[in-house]
Amino acid sequence: MRKNIIAGNWKMHATHLEAIQMVQKLSYRLDPADYERVDVVVIPPATALRSAQTVIETDHLPIGLGAQNCHWEESGAFTGEVSPAMLAKLSVSYVLAGHSERRQLFGESDETVNMKTRAILANQMTPIVCVGETEQQRDEGETEDVLRTQVTGGLAGLEAEAVAGLVVAYEPVWAIGTGRTATPDDAAAGCGFIRDVVREGWGEDAAEALRIQYGGSVKPGNIAAIMAKHDIDGALVGGASLDPDTFAAVVRYWV
Ligand code: PGA
Repeated sequence: MRKNIIAGNWKMHATHLEAIQMVQKLSYRLDPADYERVDVVVIPPATALRSAQTVIETDHLPIGLGAQNCHWEESGAFTGEVSPAMLAKLSVSYVLAGHSERRQLFGESDETVNMKTRAILANQMTPIVCVGETEQQRDEGETEDVLRTQVTGGLAGLEAEAVAGLVVAYEPVWAIGTGRTATPDDAAAGCGFIRDVVREGWGEDAAEALRIQYGGSVKPGNIAAIMAKHDIDGALVGGASLDPDTFAAVVRYWV
């Protein structure tokens, strides 16, 4: 049985002071029973990680901490970058790799996503590997080719046991921040296809254990229908994760 995982990707929003309040407010709205059903993760910007971690540790909150990006080297002359070892030391458990905004705006390729994924794993954290087609690729019937290339490229060379512990987020680019959610059937088709690609490359056990999130304009009003789909094990939530009330309503999707 795969445990659901719902993660809030704050993107470039929230100062470290706002982050403290956001994590605290979120925790007031969630019960122990919610955390039993769902792994709840917040992914603040790098400058807010330390404050979020302090709140989580001081208040003993069962909220996972995630980072939005990292470099693949442990340390070195890489001005402006943050290393996976630095994140691990901050009790970060999840790191996004290859979010579509990083691919589109910052030139990330399947190769760098693969190097980051390996580095995240080597530092005992869980990569959330993001994949998804653009609108044009979908219109041209290339969705499956794109997903196959991104999954096999991003996970290239990994052992089956490592793949089993990963999270992959299926985020159709046309659905991110646009208010246009994929239909639950489209979301499930993408997630199911990703699981098939993993099955072909890494075997049945890895495919069954790997958790796959849907992302793209997830909100309280559409999360239940998305989570009802067999191959969808959670959500990567952008805009709707910035308000703790709204994010809590997404986490408690069954209520
Ligand atoms: P959105 O973002 O929920 O605002 O569409 C999702 C994401 O980019 O992870």
